[in-house]
Amino acid sequence: MTEPDVHLDDQAAALRADVRYGFSAAQKWLPAKWFYDARGSELFEEITRLPEYYPTRAEREILTREAGEIARVTGAHTLVELGSGSSEKTRLLLDGLREHGTLKTFVPLDVSASALEEAVAAIRADYPGLSVRGVVGDFTEHLGLLPGEPPRLVAFLGGTIGNFLPADRVKFLRSVRDVLTPGEWLLLGTDLVKDPDTLVRAYDDAAGVTAQFDLNMLSVVNELLGADFDLGGFGHESYWDAENEWIEMRLRARRDMVVRIPGAGMDVRFEEGEYIRTEISAKFRAAGVAAELTESGFALERWWTDGQQRFGVSLAKAVQEE
Ligand code: SAH
Ligand code: AVI
Repeated sequence: MTEPDVHLDDQAAALRADVRYGFSAAQKWLPAKWFYDARGSELFEEITRLPEYYPTRAEREILTREAGEIARVTGAHTLVELGSGSSEKTRLLLDGLREHGTLKTFVPLDVSASALEEAVAAIRADYPGLSVRGVVGDFTEHLGLLPGEPPRLVAFLGGTIGNFLPADRVKFLRSVRDVLTPGEWLLLGTDLVKDPDTLVRAYDDAAGVTAQFDLNMLSVVNELLGADFDLGGFGHESYWDAENEWIEMRLRARRDMVVRIPGAGMDVRFEEGEYIRTEISAKFRAAGVAAELTESGFALERWWTDGQQRFGVSLAKAVQEE
């Protein structure tokens, strides 16, 4: 059984750099990828089952309906999945491509080693004969190292594209385009703009699972950098930024405090009411998605939404450029 390719080496050093940068800014922030240690990945899976968190169900509805069409249009031999997590919904694509008779290799890539390993084991057990080549890596750094024979279909599901800031989003889409050969494919999931109440509740559920997920980032900093964050000292918030059309997840300090972060060589002061931005989750409109795909070197071939227009999935082809 092939072990995953591991492209992440010193996670503490990577977090140290992000903590020094993000906690020195006027508005403190950390990149969302630091949610996902083993516990964070488990909490995310729990989020996907919450009544308030509609994106997973809405995207699953689209993939259930369109997997056959995606297989027919792309004829992919390799399915690459970026930020694959449990790869649960991806099974719909694997089934479609297998029935179509073209699928040979599945390449899930995730920064969370535990989520990746579990997903690889489960997919191998259920898809005998499929070559599964897991990659533990960062999709902002390791796209050039992906295995698999063309034509490839790169799936980026769940709305994770919304966790980039807008400028980084186009850079990222461009980097995906650059590792593809013209004629290969991108399948992109995007959560859509809707009423603020539905959005805010999707990121602040009644059971408090999203709050635990948010606070888990502080546990990751404690674990990797020996910090002494008191999780009880921060409260989780979900905020709709109507101008930027994104949800922000925030951890707000309940009191003045100083947090020691020896692994980053810093003591960080928090004032009561001050917050750390832990995630943005941008919400999209159809025209905006189409424009960003075009700008990044893709031709949009299909656009689907669920019955309630909550979530969009785009199928786009890498175009030949001068
Ligand atoms: N695609 C799945 C999981 C979405 S959660 C779904 O649709 O349900 C986001 C996933 O992306 C997590 O598994 C997380 O570990 C991974 N991730 C976040 N930032 C990443 C990065 N920079 N590189 C690789 N994986 C990343
Ligand atoms: C992974 N990503 C698309 C999720 C989102 O909805 O932005 C992460 C998440 N954050 C809170 N709940 C879920």
